[in-house]
Amino acid sequence: MKIITFFFSGTGNTWWATRKINEIFRKSGHYSIYCPIEKNIHADFVNRIDEFDMIGFSYPIYGANFPPVFKLFLEQLIESRSDSVSKACFTLCTIGYVNALGPFAAQKILKQACFKLVGSLNIKLTNNTSVPNLKTKVFNDHELDNRKEQALRKIQHFAEQLTNNKKMITGIGPYLIPGYIIRKISDRKIKKINEIWSVDQSRCLHCNLCITICPTNSIIFTNNVFEFKNTCTACFRCYNVCPANAILHTGTYADPKYYIRYKGPEKDWYKKMVLSE
Ligand SMILES: Cc1cc2nc3c(=O)[nH]c(=O)nc-3n(C[C@H](O)[C@H](O)[C@H](O)COP(=O)(O)O)c2cc1C
Ligand code: SF4
Ligand code: SF4
Repeated sequence: MKIITFFFSGTGNTWWATRKINEIFRKSGHYSIYCPIEKNIHADFVNRIDEFDMIGFSYPIYGANFPPVFKLFLEQLIESRSDSVSKACFTLCTIGYVNALGPFAAQKILKQACFKLVGSLNIKLTNNTSVPNLKTKVFNDHELDNRKEQALRKIQHFAEQLTNNKKMITGIGPYLIPGYIIRKISDRKIKKINEIWSVDQSRCLHCNLCITICPTNSIIFTNNVFEFKNTCTACFRCYNVCPANAILHTGTYADPKYYIRYKGPEKDWYKKMVLSE
């Protein structure tokens, strides 16, 4: 089988899950690659979709929904796909707490481009947001390791089912109801998240890291001022990776002693997040 997985990952969790499923596919003799959608790296592969037998879509859940950048990618994909032959696809999502999007929502969008959902899996790793006005918690290394172990078992089983042509749709349950409520509340907030960020220049080292790693090129530094554009996809990458903790959320400095920055599932994950070929 030939498989390609398009993914978006703000802080490394979804990249980690995508890389793991890719390794499992390959170990069982399939041709499998993964491709980050950020900074248009995917453009060539979108046109080559029909070379593959199965397409994976992998993304984190934000406010019980798709990350804005992933939704945009799916919309572009739908527009560009002319082939009306049904193509098998799966979704692999990472979550901090609860899956709320559910395979139904993904299925609805993907169906428009003749994608047939044959698998859907949600992987619980850790939340990646720790800021004063959100009551969320980032797990410590031990808790994260436990979650990764559990996640690996789930991914292994999921990959086996898919490659044996067995349908495996999970993530449907009563928690979809609170999810729909969360989605209504957070949708508007996420769209305007660029207005929430700023930089405390007294802490800033002017290392440019945030500017280079932003997946949507949303951070600009001109005339000694940082600007966050409305293309920001709310991924929290800049906030978590900044070596000086200089990025502020709602103008408030979050002391790292109490508000742990999420350093990702592996050291230097953002340097490794490239096309797998
Ligand atoms: C803006 C934002 C909204 C989020 N909303 C949810 C949510 O509704 N439910 C949930 O379980 N996790 C939520 N999370 C947590 C992420 O889904 C989770 O940490 C995910 O694994 C991050 O993946 P990544 O490291 O690939 O970016 C949210 C994270 C962000 C940044
Ligand atoms: S990553 Fe942090 S320290 Fe570096 S330029 Fe950005 S805000 Fe400043
Ligand atoms: S500005 Fe920060 S939160 Fe927004 S997309 Fe860029 S890295 Fe992510």
